[in-house]
This record gives sequence, structure tokens and C-alpha cells, in this order.
Amino acid sequence: MQMIQTKIVEKKELAPQTFLFKFDLHLEYEPGQFVMISSPSIPWIIPKPFSILSNGDGLSVLFKIYGLWTEKFSKLEVGDFVNVVGPCGVGFISSLARYGINSDFSKILFIAGGVGIASVFSLFGYFKNSKNTLVFGGRINKDIILLDEISKLGVEIFVSTEDGSAGTKGRVTDVLHNLNVDSFDIVFSCGPVPMMKAVSEFFKQKGINKPLIFALEERMACGIGICFSCAVKTKDGMKLCCKYGPAFSNEEIVW
Ligand SMILES: Cc1cc2nc3c(=O)[nH]c(=O)nc-3n(C[C@H](O)[C@H](O)[C@H](O)COP(=O)(O)OP(=O)(O)OC[C@H]3O[C@@H](n4cnc5c(N)ncnc54)[C@H](O)[C@@H]3O)c2cc1C
Ligand code: FES
Repeated sequence: MQMIQTKIVEKKELAPQTFLFKFDLHLEYEPGQFVMISSPSIPWIIPKPFSILSNGDGLSVLFKIYGLWTEKFSKLEVGDFVNVVGPCGVGFISSLARYGINSDFSKILFIAGGVGIASVFSLFGYFKNSKNTLVFGGRINKDIILLDEISKLGVEIFVSTEDGSAGTKGRVTDVLHNLNVDSFDIVFSCGPVPMMKAVSEFFKQKGINKPLIFALEERMACGIGICFSCAVKTKDGMKLCCKYGPAFSNEEIVW
């Protein structure tokens, strides 16, 4: 893990209130890990966690404006400095070893909600030799971002929007009903908590017995296991999302 000051080298507004920042920084990371970001221009002591979207020609994060900090963050421009701590946490790949899952998959299902796509995005490249299917849900069509980039990676995509403005009208679970979920070797997912709970419930109701790994996005203050603000209730007691996670098996989470 490193603590580095870097600057923004690219800023894109991908959709209303949704931005992609690329930094002049290269970090070795694995899909599902995250960085803690602070900025000298934002008077806020506590850094904020963001999934590492990619690190092709520089570290990128994708974020949506939720509150004051992300609103101020969105006002930063190319050339502005930020402080980055990372990579943090246990990503999807290391979690597979922890759960004793062999990563030789031929068919993988990804389920993402909104900016949760950031967490699973780099898995598409990591598992480029498997057949990858993504169920991508949002409230409206503008929440469905990076579709071109994902299609170029050969991923089959099913979209759902709550207002029906793109794909299936409804939620990701409405798409899952029409997929043979049992035919996939593993499922990786990230999105808002209600979506992840619904996916977990769907697996339970249908009796699907395939590994389901979530990247959880608990509120965090330090991101490095010091403050205990990110504790997640599991069947084996409380576990820190920033140290043990953010990748957790559905089996162990107490929703
Ligand atoms: C490991 C990890 C990875 C993350 N990766 C990303 C990412 O790649 N992109 C991204 O946009 N966000 C990501 N987040 C969430 C991000 O850290 C928060 O959106 C951010 O801290 C909000 O700060 P704020 O001060 O602007 O809003 P706050 O004042 O903290 O929140 C404002 C309101 O929005 C709600 N809220 C905050 N975050 C979310 C959320 N993610 N979903 C739904 N409601 C929310 C809060 O409950 C509150 O009601 C991640 C969080 C974690 C723990
Ligand atoms: S965020 Fe501080 S312990 Fe996890």
C-alpha cells in the first residue's frame, strides 16, 4: 500500500453527476480493491473510498455525486492535486483463494448496479478467456455507463432500468429470472445494498448453489483497519470491510 500525491490528468462527465477521473499514477492492484482519496482543495479530514476502475495508462476512478464531498470532488479539474492511499482491501481474486475456489472459470456472471460497475469492471479483462455475461441495472438509462468499453471486451450485456428507459423495465433480479444462473461457474457483484440484498435473496429462493462474491461498500473513515467504522456482520462475527473485504462471499454475510 502506498500514500502518494498525484494529479488529475483526465476528467470526463460520463452522465449527469457521474464522473471519471484519471490520475498520473500507476498502482499494482487486483480487481475489487479500492483507494482512499483526499484533496488539498477539499477541507475534509476523512478520505473517501473509491473502487479502482482501471490502471491502463493511469489509475482511474468512477464516481457519482452523493453528498458534499463528492460534489466538491466533481469540481476538481485536470492538473489539480489529490492524495491517494492504496491499493486497499482484499479484492475479488484474493478472496477466491480464501474461499478455496479454483479460478479456472469458463462462464462468469457479473451483476452491477450503477457506479458499482467500477468495482467489477477490471474483472472483464482479468477473466478475458471465459464467457462473461453482465447484468447491469440502473434507475434510468443514464445510469448505464461504459457500455462501449464493456462490449469491446466481448462481454454479453443485459440491462435493466427501473423506468424502462433502457433494457428490461425493472431491477436486475427481473433479468436474472430469465437467465439460467445455475449455468455460470461463479457470480461477482457490486451495487447499492438493496440490490445486493435482492440478489442474495434471489439465490436463496431459487436454491442456486454457485459461489456469489460481493464487493461491499460500507461507510469508511480510515480504509486501513484502524477506526473500525466499516465493520460488517458475518456468520463468524464482525469483519472489517476495508481489511477483510471489500470482497465477501454471500455465504458469510448476515444481511
Ligand atoms: C470500498 C468502497 C468503494 C467505493 N467505490 C465507489 C466508486 O467506485 N464510485 C462511487 O461513486 N462511490 C464509491 N464508493 C462510495 C463513495 O465512497 C461514497 O459515494 C462517498 O464517500 C460519498 O461521499 P459524500 O460525502 O459525497 O456523501 P455522503 O455525505 O457520505 O453521503 C450522502 C448521502 O448519499 C448516501 N450515499 C453515499 N454513498 C452512497 C452510495 N455509494 N450509494 C448510495 N448512496 C450513497 C449516503 O447514505 C447519504 O445519505 C465506495 C465506497 C466503498 C466503501
Ligand atoms: S474504515 Fe477504518 S477500520 Fe475500516
